[in-house]
Parts: sequence; C-alpha cells; structure tokens
Amino acid sequence: ATNRTFTMIKPDAVENGHIGAILEKINAAGFRIVALKQTQMTTRDAEAFYAIHSERPFFGELVEFMTRGPIVAAILEKDNAVEDFRTLIGATNPAEAAEGTIRKLYATSIGENAVHGSDSDENAAIEGAFHFSGREQF
Ligand code: CMP
Repeated sequence: ATNRTFTMIKPDAVENGHIGAILEKINAAGFRIVALKQTQMTTRDAEAFYAIHSERPFFGELVEFMTRGPIVAAILEKDNAVEDFRTLIGATNPAEAAEGTIRKLYATSIGENAVHGSDSDENAAIEGAFHFSGREQF
C-alpha cells in the first residue's frame, strides 16, 4: 500500500554538500516528496526526537551531532515507503551498508551516518508531525 516515511539529511551530509545528490537518489527511487525543508534542531528538539535513545551511551554525542548545523527534513510517499527507504539508505553503520546505498556513498561513521529513516509506519507519522504542520504537507 502507499504510505509515508520521514527522513532527515543529517548535519554531516549537509556540511559535505550532499543535499542535492541525496535528493536525486530519493527521487530516482520513486519517492514523492510530501514535505521538505532545511531547518536546525535545538538541543530540546533533538532530546525529544531521540527520547527513545536517552539511556544509550551515545545519546549525548547524538544530540550534539544532530544540533551542530542545519538538517534537511522530509516526508516521503511511496508503496512500502518505510521498508523501501531503509533499503535505499543501507545499514546504520556505513561500513556494513550495501554498495550503492546512501550511507555507503555519503556517510562517515555509525554516528555521522548522513540520513535518518523511520523504522515503522507509526514512527513515520510521529516524526513527520514533529517537523511539519498539516499545511506544510502536500
Ligand atoms: P538513526 O538510526 O537515524 O537514529 C539513531 C542514531 O543514533 C543512529 O542513526 C546513529 O546516528 C546514532 N547511533 C547509533 N548507534 C550509535 C553508536 N554506537 N555510536 C554513536 N551513534 C550511534
């Protein structure tokens, strides 16, 4: 069925000039852009967005990283969007990501891994609503 996922092009990929190349990969893979913007998360934003990881040893590093510069947030639509987008981006650790995936091509490390992709339909809806109002979705 047609459904939606949420993504962020993370600060490392924005700093390294990969916004255009990553959006091109997303477009070529058949996703429709429902919402799109460049923005920067505050510490409070990142702590709330990643609350599920708050007990992890890397939480402080993750919040520091995600707030250090602008990101590009987007809601994407496609058949089987959540699963197909996770295939397109590849494994969390770029060293383990398949050839041709966004993380294999553009990520630096397990922490600075270029892109986010929602892990379920439920989280896609929560994460999309975190960044976009109804009037920003088309
Ligand atoms: P993502 O899956 O988008 O959301 C959680 C993020 O936590 C993950 O991407 C990584 O950026 C980060 N992360 C996961 N594991 C580690 C780790 N071992 N060290 C540092 N950051 C991590």
